[in-house]
Amino acid sequence: MPRRLSVSVAGAVLASLLALVLHVTFNSPISPLPSLRPSSRITPNNLLKTVDRLGEGRLEGPEAVCVDGEGTLYTATRDGWIKRMQPNGSWEDWKQPGGSALLGIAVSMTGDILVCDADKGLLRVGEDGVATLASEVDGSPIIFADDVVEASDGSVYFSDASTKFGFHDWFLDLLEARPHGRLLRYDPFTKKTYVVLANLTFANGVTLSQDQDFLVVCETWRFRCLKHWLKGEQEGKTEVFIDNLPGGPDNINLAPDGSFWIALLQLRSRWIDWIHCSCMTKRVLATFPKLVEIINPMKSGAMVVNVASNGKITRMLDDSDGTVMSFVTSAMEFDGHLYLGSLQTNFIGKLSLK
Ligand SMILES: *[C@@H]1O[C@H](CO)[C@@H](O)[C@H](O)[C@H]1NC(C)=O
Ligand SMILES: *[C@@H]1O[C@H](CO)[C@@H](O)[C@H](O)[C@H]1NC(C)=O
Repeated sequence: MPRRLSVSVAGAVLASLLALVLHVTFNSPISPLPSLRPSSRITPNNLLKTVDRLGEGRLEGPEAVCVDGEGTLYTATRDGWIKRMQPNGSWEDWKQPGGSALLGIAVSMTGDILVCDADKGLLRVGEDGVATLASEVDGSPIIFADDVVEASDGSVYFSDASTKFGFHDWFLDLLEARPHGRLLRYDPFTKKTYVVLANLTFANGVTLSQDQDFLVVCETWRFRCLKHWLKGEQEGKTEVFIDNLPGGPDNINLAPDGSFWIALLQLRSRWIDWIHCSCMTKRVLATFPKLVEIINPMKSGAMVVNVASNGKITRMLDDSDGTVMSFVTSAMEFDGHLYLGSLQTNFIGKLSLK
């Protein structure tokens, strides 16, 4: 190649790179921080591959599961349905409150179902209709209601995963890795919603301890869960419940023995670790989301852990390559079995714990 031509080719390449950098710097929808990468790793046992499949084919992304006093199992799905299974195993498409994705679900003392509509906020769903309990707090809209639990005093604690990115843009929130999430409390007597904790890095699962003296809320992108005291000398204080988890904690549920089941998203893969090394790479991916679809950086697989009330992992169950259960978002124990929800399966996994 003649010298002058190679100089101009190099110049053109440099100019294009500069243009790309400027484009990405000014057009990227995110302003990322470097992300955490936990060091803990666990040896796979693949026990989640042995689940029975409930409702296979009639459920699309059953994210979360709860059971009422009569043993009827309810699930909230990505396509906006609440479906239920009677104790005799028969299924019913029960309610479709709004059409947007439904996430966390809980049975209320009133017999109604409390559910997080990712777009609309906190809903109460009963046989005779749907009520929106909370869609904003202090004038700030709830754009990513995620998980819910009701306390015996009637307070409803629920998470708003991010105040910047909604359900369909969750990957941008992961790339940005900034604390946009919050934990909220709906008071059924005043019908008002209050901020309990702000600045959480993707506020996800929330549950109460057995005595309801504290709650635990998961911060997915920080691989940790916080403990917030509701009663006693520590009331109002917040501390780390468990950190350096081997995955991003999604939903958390109290087990009958007072321990907790936490579903862990598999947020580490060679691609994701590489993406997290560089804020520039994150900006590029956020500017050109098609690239994310092409490289498909999420690793298949699923993991759940049982954590004692002192914050120590006592048991782990996984599907290391996700051929049966992938992207498990919740684990709920009932009557000696674990019920596993997932945004990627068309069934609920059921596993005997004996
Ligand atoms: C299962 O129970 C439901 C509710 O009690 C009832 O409507 C249904 O007919 C039962 N189905 C079967 C197959 O027994
Ligand atoms: C949350 O972050 C905002 C903005 O960074 C800050 O102004 C505020 O004080 C923080 N709130 C709490 C409770 O830490």
